[in-house]
Amino acid sequence: MEQFFASSPRGLEPLLAAELASLGAQRVREVPGGVAFSGDWRVCYMANLWSRLASRVLWRVAEFDYTGEGDIYEAARSVDWMRLFAVERTLRVNVSAQKSPLKSLDFATLRIKDAVCDRFREALGSRPNVDRANPDVRVHAFLEATRGAFYLDTSGEPLFKRGWRAGAGEAPLRENLAAGIVMLSGWKPGEPLLDPMCGGGTLLVEAAAMARGRAPGARRAFGFQKLKIFDAKLWTNIKHEERTTKTVKLEIFGSDNDPRALNDARRNLAAAGVERWVKLEQADILERAAPAAAGVMVANPPYGERIGSKEELALFYPKLGTALKRNFAGWRCHFFTADLRLPKLVRLQPARRVPLYNGALECRLYEIRIVAGSNRR
Ligand SMILES: C[S@@+](CC[C@H](N)C(=O)[O-])C[C@H]1O[C@@H](n2cnc3c(N)ncnc32)[C@H](O)[C@@H]1O
Repeated sequence: MEQFFASSPRGLEPLLAAELASLGAQRVREVPGGVAFSGDWRVCYMANLWSRLASRVLWRVAEFDYTGEGDIYEAARSVDWMRLFAVERTLRVNVSAQKSPLKSLDFATLRIKDAVCDRFREALGSRPNVDRANPDVRVHAFLEATRGAFYLDTSGEPLFKRGWRAGAGEAPLRENLAAGIVMLSGWKPGEPLLDPMCGGGTLLVEAAAMARGRAPGARRAFGFQKLKIFDAKLWTNIKHEERTTKTVKLEIFGSDNDPRALNDARRNLAAAGVERWVKLEQADILERAAPAAAGVMVANPPYGERIGSKEELALFYPKLGTALKRNFAGWRCHFFTADLRLPKLVRLQPARRVPLYNGALECRLYEIRIVAGSNRR
């Protein structure tokens, strides 16, 4: 049994815990920003390949007490790194801390890197090179007030990089956050789903991939492949395991009023291999009709941080409320935004508000049920 920690956008921890348990994780414990769990290597590989919600899966390799940088250096030097990865691998160290008394995390990072390299040099006469941009091996240190732990990153590139994103687009959602939003909406394949402000189509890709039972990590490599514990046979078996998905007719729709966004969405859907499951059209959310009598809407409107101004949005929301009432009776509409004025300004009462973080930015997922003739404040 090994100990792991899967990080995720804050707010998705309960969903992540359930997802990891369904992949075989044991002793699953939620903490802010992720989920700790136990399991064997099969569970670790499964979590990397199949988790739609995790950002990274970290493997705990040591724990220690400390009061200053000196203790952290000694703790890092006492780890048998040569057993974990080869000296030819390039290295990067990351430190994050909560309530740590240390003045400089940069200095702690440097000391840990020195300790790893010193340990290698003593044993082998050579040391791994540092590559901050594209390392083979990432060592993460987590520091609390007096306790710390070292982890090796089994994911490598973060797991929200699925390998299908074509263009940068305008303020795209991270893929794991998008998957979480679709899950929180309670959408079930077979029900109509619409993103009427789809931008690069992240929510659409994630919904289609989920419904088709596509492994989010099928097209990418992982950090564990660069570690000495890597079991190539086990990995090949896991990748080739059949997973049966119920075939249901998918009704997934996307629109945006910006033709460039639609181009991005089209490219992304094609790169993810799900374009045949999603119908795209250029339309203004204020004008368009609902594609079905009832369904689930998920949308991530501009929120005046990176695009759209606060004043423009204040004028837009009341019109949005009117359009929803007029065209989407019978729909459960979900808006993911950092603009907490949204429910008040659309003048519709949310049935639910789920706090979610987009990086450090506090956001909400508002669910607004449109029932003909009601809801108006
Ligand atoms: C924050 S972006 C959505 C990003 C998207 N969720 C993704 O992950 O790529 C907001 C999108 O809303 C679109 N938009 C803004 N006003 C709109 C309107 N009135 N009708 C339709 N789309 C609109 C913008 O063109 C932009 O693509």
